[in-house]
Amino acid sequence: MTASSSQSPNTDASSDDNLQSRLIKAVNNRRNFAIISHPDAGKTTLTEKLLLYGGAIQQAGAVKARGQQRKVTSDWMELEKQRGISITSTVLQFDYSDNTINLLDTPGHQDFSEDTYRTLAAADNAVMLEDAAKGLEPQTRKLFEVCRMRSIPIFTFINKMDRPGQEPLRLLDEIESELKLSTWPVNWPIGSGELFRGVIDRRKKQVILFSRAERGKQSEERHLSLDDPDINKLVERELLEKALEELELLDMAGSQLDQDLIHSGDLTPVFFGSAMTNFGVRPFLDAFLQMAHGPSARSSSDGLIDPLRPEFSGFVFKLQANMDPRHRDRVAFLRVCSGRFEKDMTVSHARTGKTIKLSRPQKLFGQERAVVDDAYPGDVIGLNNPGMFAIGDTLYAGNKVEYEGIPCFSPEIFSWLRNPNPSAFKNFRKGVNQLREEGAVQILYDTDESKRDPILAAVGQLQLEVVQHRLENEYGVETRLEPMGYQVARWVDGGWKSLENIGRVFNCKTVQDAWSRPVLLFKNDWNLNQLLEDHSDLKLSSVAPVVSGVEPINL
Ligand code: G4P
Repeated sequence: MTASSSQSPNTDASSDDNLQSRLIKAVNNRRNFAIISHPDAGKTTLTEKLLLYGGAIQQAGAVKARGQQRKVTSDWMELEKQRGISITSTVLQFDYSDNTINLLDTPGHQDFSEDTYRTLAAADNAVMLEDAAKGLEPQTRKLFEVCRMRSIPIFTFINKMDRPGQEPLRLLDEIESELKLSTWPVNWPIGSGELFRGVIDRRKKQVILFSRAERGKQSEERHLSLDDPDINKLVERELLEKALEELELLDMAGSQLDQDLIHSGDLTPVFFGSAMTNFGVRPFLDAFLQMAHGPSARSSSDGLIDPLRPEFSGFVFKLQANMDPRHRDRVAFLRVCSGRFEKDMTVSHARTGKTIKLSRPQKLFGQERAVVDDAYPGDVIGLNNPGMFAIGDTLYAGNKVEYEGIPCFSPEIFSWLRNPNPSAFKNFRKGVNQLREEGAVQILYDTDESKRDPILAAVGQLQLEVVQHRLENEYGVETRLEPMGYQVARWVDGGWKSLENIGRVFNCKTVQDAWSRPVLLFKNDWNLNQLLEDHSDLKLSSVAPVVSGVEPINL
């Protein structure tokens, strides 16, 4: 045996140990989350304040300012500028208190919630943000349902306590009764609006006094023990007594802050605060880090894959084309699920079996990019996508892994997409296929083969406008939309066979999705419920399971 060969196993073993301990440390220190909320609840404001604590931005306001001043990086982002809305979603990574936090940002506009649904598939935790005056709102309920499907831990932040709001007990009751989610307030408000004096930290039995942080500054909250004599000078007696009485009621109700229940998505820790005045954000972040789920094991064809599996694996949850029109680039957003990702590494593509070298992986921060050298479970990287990645694709090193993929969510508006110019058909077809693959819109087809125009199926009108805008600007085809007047779509469990079994169906239109599955379109919920009443054996779903191993129908 030569000297070098007798040394190499030891060297390899110690470098493997090193890599494994780096991986363990990275996984232990990583947390990621997405914020679910209704527009105007304060998502942008809370995001800014969180980034301020991470030192990721120097001044609160920078998230918006950057959005407004940003040089246009693509044609269709022009639409974002014109409308003053945020369509894209990216990732914001920051370090805080020895942890690396990934905030998976989601589009601000509800018409793009399909993108949000997919981003939630990559999140390990969700922060449910509510406006104290409004309580649960429609968009939050919808996004909550998506979290529930995956049992993601939910952390609730009740915002705008500096303004008059609903009774806190009522807000909790609404979450418990309507979302069937148990609550455990980590802090409890003393007064609200003009009379908001702060919160009682339930675990430490301390009062945190309300103060408005100076714009762009981290807040210096003052903590007082409940028996501190100064409290009587700083907080009106009746307000404190009311808060303490309510806390007593909660204690009597007997629920516990059970970490397992948080992690299974059955109990939400609740925090009261005011993002705008930067009150309660730091305590929220500290508690979140203690209680949040780390990078979780993910379901695959091979069972659950642990993030500590030494070999890299991850899945694509979002594609975005033409972020930079000068390069006509396409970026695939990949969530790292196991092992260490390294720049220039060669990986396998589960769907096609191809081997790929990932040479210019990017870290995304809002609209900014930087090349990344490595990434760990819970992180998101942007990969250059020359058309080979589709949503749900798995990349892996070592033994084959294929993650479960991302389901299709029920669209709510439907429109024929007409191409009035037959000579542009080639580009029309290319654009429609690419935009479907990217997930910009769902494509349905009439069951009558002679009506081959695609049906665009979207969650909001703006999503359709973006598709039209992009077809014109990126593929050079002018198109016409013809609304169909349906509002509800359901997939048929059991496929075409189940549909045949019930015979003719009324007051709905049968179409097929890109995987040839039957989809029923209804004008309203009433028609849907009517059909279900008439056929009790018919099972319909608002979410379509992932299809693997089958190529979708292209136009
Ligand atoms: P979004 O991203 O969820 O849509 O909400 P965003 O943060 O943009 O906040 C919506 C509005 O609510 C903003 O007011 C924001 O200042 C305000 N807001 C957010 N958090 C709080 C809070 O804790 N207390 C109070 N009182 N207001 C809050 P705006 O007038 O629409 O915009 P701006 O001029 O203040 O930026």
